[in-house]
Amino acid sequence: MSLSKRAQSISLSVTLALDARAKALVDAGRDVINMSVGEPDFPAPQAVQDAACAKVRSGDVKYTPAAGTRALRKAVADHVGAVRGVKYAPEEVCICHSTKHALSGAVLTLVDPGDEVLLLLPAWVSYVEIVRIAGGVPVEVPSRTDCGPDFAAIERAITPKTKCVLLNSPSNPTGYVWTKEEVRQLSELCERRGLWLLSDEIYQRLVYEGESFASPVSLSPAIRARTVILDGASKSYAMTGYRIGFAAGPREVISGIERLHSHLTGAPNAVSQEGYLAALTNGEPPEVAKMAAEFDARRRVLVDALRELGLQTPWPRGAFYAFPDVRAYLDERGTRGFCEDLLEKHNLALVPGTAFGVDTHVRLSYALALPKIQGAMARLGDFLRQHPRRAHALAAARS
Ligand SMILES: Cc1ncc(COP(=O)(O)O)c(C=O)c1O
Repeated sequence: MSLSKRAQSISLSVTLALDARAKALVDAGRDVINMSVGEPDFPAPQAVQDAACAKVRSGDVKYTPAAGTRALRKAVADHVGAVRGVKYAPEEVCICHSTKHALSGAVLTLVDPGDEVLLLLPAWVSYVEIVRIAGGVPVEVPSRTDCGPDFAAIERAITPKTKCVLLNSPSNPTGYVWTKEEVRQLSELCERRGLWLLSDEIYQRLVYEGESFASPVSLSPAIRARTVILDGASKSYAMTGYRIGFAAGPREVISGIERLHSHLTGAPNAVSQEGYLAALTNGEPPEVAKMAAEFDARRRVLVDALRELGLQTPWPRGAFYAFPDVRAYLDERGTRGFCEDLLEKHNLALVPGTAFGVDTHVRLSYALALPKIQGAMARLGDFLRQHPRRAHALAAARS
């Protein structure tokens, strides 16, 4: 019996595999600090919990329409409009099982086999595989060393087969937040070259300083007409396990996603829809601002500590990750070997940059309490002191 070529070609998410390894070590009695996880360490807001419980207790937990309940589509449309300053109708929103689900729905709706999709490195681990599952060709475009966009490289990567560009701001793994000017430049490029813009805005609520997050849809009606927003409840409302998200965009695309999902997955979870509705109505739950303030405080402690250890670390203005450059400490096994040694010998779990298409940096999540972050920095410091900077790696870093 042989599996399909599709299934054979897909690898398990590196971040999930690492998380599983870290948990297995904990189960075996090891005191592991896990900075590989990409989920808030806070409970969902009380209003969400209450609404979800009430829905379960009502007994009325049935299929909803494939694109979600009318009430939630409207609440999401209003929320998208309020945050991005552009009006959306409920028919321009498809509720999905998660942002991952919204993203795969959008890619399956827009990308034909052989179409190219530009991924701006470093890029979130699942983009490459989702594009491949759709039969598309992921084209990885390197970015600047401070993790901002390199427009010349993006232009060079465009071919007659390019269909979409995937934008993720704030970024996982770098925490980089694109400026409005950068978003404008990319959007105008897409307009000029006739490309779709898939805008993964899942970290939009988690921007800590300076100019806030900018969405392409705010720029002009023409750009809005070629942009699909992907977002969800996981990060902004600490609702990872609820599995709920949405796609918002032109009606034609949204109805394509709805048709696909009506066969592939059916209605999103009715309980989670009620929870998400509670998060989006009656004003922002107070827990959200508190969580963002806590992330901000941890971010400063973490980045300062990494820099004190001598690791060049781009300043992350959003999301909850730091992405230091560790190339001076790498051997021939690259960032994967670095992370394996760190976990096995020093009980600290980080994610290797290879998961994001770059083998020079590692990702640390600060979705864990300050004392743990401080403990993690002590372990990282011990590890680095035992691995003196390697001359060949330093030479490579300078070149
Ligand atoms: C950039 C990015 N997009 C999408 C997702 C998926 O989120 P969800 O839990 O809604 O599927 C994640 C989760 O880690 C992410 O980091």
